[in-house]
Amino acid sequence: MDIAPTAAQAATEIPAYNQSATPADLLIRPRNRNFASAVIDRRRWVDGDPFASAFFNALSVTFPEGEIFFIDSLKKFRKRVPPKLQREIRAFIQQEAIHSREHHCFNEHLKDCDFDISRLEQAISGVVNRIRTMPEHAHLVATLCIEHITAILAAEVIANPKHFENADEQQRKLWLWHASEEIEHKGVAYDTWLHMTKDWSPFKCWFIRCSFMAKIAFGFTKNRARGVLDLLRQDGISGPRAWLGLAHYAFLGKAPFRRTLWPLLQFFKPGFHPWDIDDRALIRLAESEYEAAIMAEVDAGSERPDSLVLDKTERIKKVA
Ligand SMILES: [Fe+2]
Ligand SMILES: [Fe+2]
Repeated sequence: MDIAPTAAQAATEIPAYNQSATPADLLIRPRNRNFASAVIDRRRWVDGDPFASAFFNALSVTFPEGEIFFIDSLKKFRKRVPPKLQREIRAFIQQEAIHSREHHCFNEHLKDCDFDISRLEQAISGVVNRIRTMPEHAHLVATLCIEHITAILAAEVIANPKHFENADEQQRKLWLWHASEEIEHKGVAYDTWLHMTKDWSPFKCWFIRCSFMAKIAFGFTKNRARGVLDLLRQDGISGPRAWLGLAHYAFLGKAPFRRTLWPLLQFFKPGFHPWDIDDRALIRLAESEYEAAIMAEVDAGSERPDSLVLDKTERIKKVA
């Protein structure tokens, strides 16, 4: 099933949502990667670092349910937007469905490492269920806010190789692949919002999206910190050591929070669009990284990764 238009086709369509900065020749291509067999070798799989590992583990727990929510949010609007955006929503849905599937497997491997992630899962379910009770425009604006947070974190982890330095190789590839697709589809929810609110006043649009972002960014930070501290406790680190270690990691060491603060604040500018920054070079960088790693494994005569040898039916069976 070919959902991607040709570059020429995409470039000749003029979007109705005229404030969009999405590149006309952007192609969103779901890459059906499979990491189901990528067991987590070490509990502290990121460079033996308990704080970095707990940070990415806590993030991963949110993905299966969170990404299903994004899919449901955009599905509601698919038939009400122009054809180019319809195709992008379809590709977005495919990408997020695969991410959700792969992070479900990653989370199962966390359980195999004796982590109890049930409290983190309950926390994300609580947030998602609360948003689901709101009107449909709230689903859309919540999705575009979280997509912005995801995209700036994605850009950070690709641009700064320190994040996955000495991480388990299969997990590093999983995260780089996911990050690259988050960058690729970062404008889809936003463009859907621009189209659906094209008759609203600019102030109303700005006020609603910024109010949501303030609330969501605060809740996201608070809940992820709680999740990280929960996982650290299970890893034998609690009290001031856990707090100080997390603060050091987030703001001083690899500093994912500090380094994404400025891109987060950009969202509050009137007229902001996720593609104000065209960072497609990061997608190519991530792809070259994990493709090179796969080829190195094959060249070395090691067992071929499952993604290269399983057909689609086998892959789906494997993760069911
Ligand atoms: Fe995703
Ligand atoms: Fe996404």
